[in-house]
Amino acid sequence: MPAQRTESGPSTADVFIIEPNNTEAVPALLEQIKKDFDVFNASNQGRKDLVIKCRALVQALETPRETMLYHCWAQNGDNPQKVDDLAANLGIDNVLLSRLMRHLSAMGYLVETEANEYRLTNYTKAMGIPVIGNSYLAMLSCTSAGPMRFHEFSRKRGWVNPTDAKDTAMMYAYGTKMDAFAWQRFLGYGTHFNDHMGSYDLGCLPWMAPSFYPVKQRLIDGADTDPEAPFLVDIGGNVGHDLARFHKFYPKAPGKLILQDLPVVIGQIEDLDPAIIRMEYDFHMEQPIKGARAYYMHTCLHDWPDDVCNSILARVKAAMKRGYSRLLIHEHVIPETGAYWEATAMDMVMLTLLSAQERTRAAWYNLIETRAGLNIIKIWSGGKGAQSLIECELLMECN
Ligand SMILES: C[S@@+](CC[C@H](N)C(=O)[O-])C[C@H]1O[C@@H](n2cnc3c(N)ncnc32)[C@H](O)[C@@H]1O
Repeated sequence: MPAQRTESGPSTADVFIIEPNNTEAVPALLEQIKKDFDVFNASNQGRKDLVIKCRALVQALETPRETMLYHCWAQNGDNPQKVDDLAANLGIDNVLLSRLMRHLSAMGYLVETEANEYRLTNYTKAMGIPVIGNSYLAMLSCTSAGPMRFHEFSRKRGWVNPTDAKDTAMMYAYGTKMDAFAWQRFLGYGTHFNDHMGSYDLGCLPWMAPSFYPVKQRLIDGADTDPEAPFLVDIGGNVGHDLARFHKFYPKAPGKLILQDLPVVIGQIEDLDPAIIRMEYDFHMEQPIKGARAYYMHTCLHDWPDDVCNSILARVKAAMKRGYSRLLIHEHVIPETGAYWEATAMDMVMLTLLSAQERTRAAWYNLIETRAGLNIIKIWSGGKGAQSLIECELLMECN
């Protein structure tokens, strides 16, 4: 029987990627750490032993999704696997594989069952699922020189906050003029990036959940019921995971659900509910869908500095119908204090790959109200550390 997707993303078969790796191990680890700490005599070996146990505790509590995000931002069932067998199956030099696996085991990502034999942990098992494993290829293998050489890029520019989309640390590191999306695709990792987009917020409360944003009261009530009327347009919606989720929540929402992204990305869609209309669109051009009930952008504006966002927003604004259309921006709204690591880590990715940023509340008001001339109706919080939904409309005309 095919695996069923749950409300918030992964299939029931894959749901372990959003669950703690090993909750049962936690009480014993806590007890052991406390005991070791009580007799801790500041020796270096004692400290190292404690670090290993603490790492094991973190790994037991983390979900595979969190571990993947932590790193970025092979599947053999549950049986032990001999290095020599695996090396022969994969066509890899067994000395090389043995060194790699010994290190992964020392770091706690594999369990050493005997000499040159290892078993997967829950986390390494999840690496066999494309949305987890491919995230590493998309986010580390082809762009990581950006963060690595950020210091050099920044020193040469006098340590100013970078805000030029055409001059990024990633472009500097690879000697390319392509933006991060084009560069990933150029190296053959475009679909891996799509997989990452399908996984980075798995397990978070979806914005369309009634306890987050009341879709019925704010969008469905009062919407044009003509089946041809555009209801929700996902601009830069990648391969459609957010609209697919929306359609599951509200299969009877009136009008059309429209997915927009660049032609190359629309062409990479493998499987999408036929209720969702696919549209090739460049958000720097005129928005062809006028007067939709809602335009939606999820982690698109964070990819661009304010001047580019302002021009993207002008295209949306020109298509909105006063008193009817909403713009929904699903992004982090970083608090003035106590920012959560997922938001700040994402900010570092934006900084080093795109000369862009995650925005604070003040930065959002500046961009949306002061610069773009839209009105923020309300910022709906997704909970601590989660992305918010910024609900906007056209300003009412003055008499
Ligand atoms: C960070 S991803 C977000 C994807 C999706 N909204 C999500 O949150 O999962 C940014 C998206 O913007 C798209 N994009 C980049 N430049 C674009 C452009 N000029 N016009 C339309 N989409 C674009 C990318 O292809 C990508 O799918």
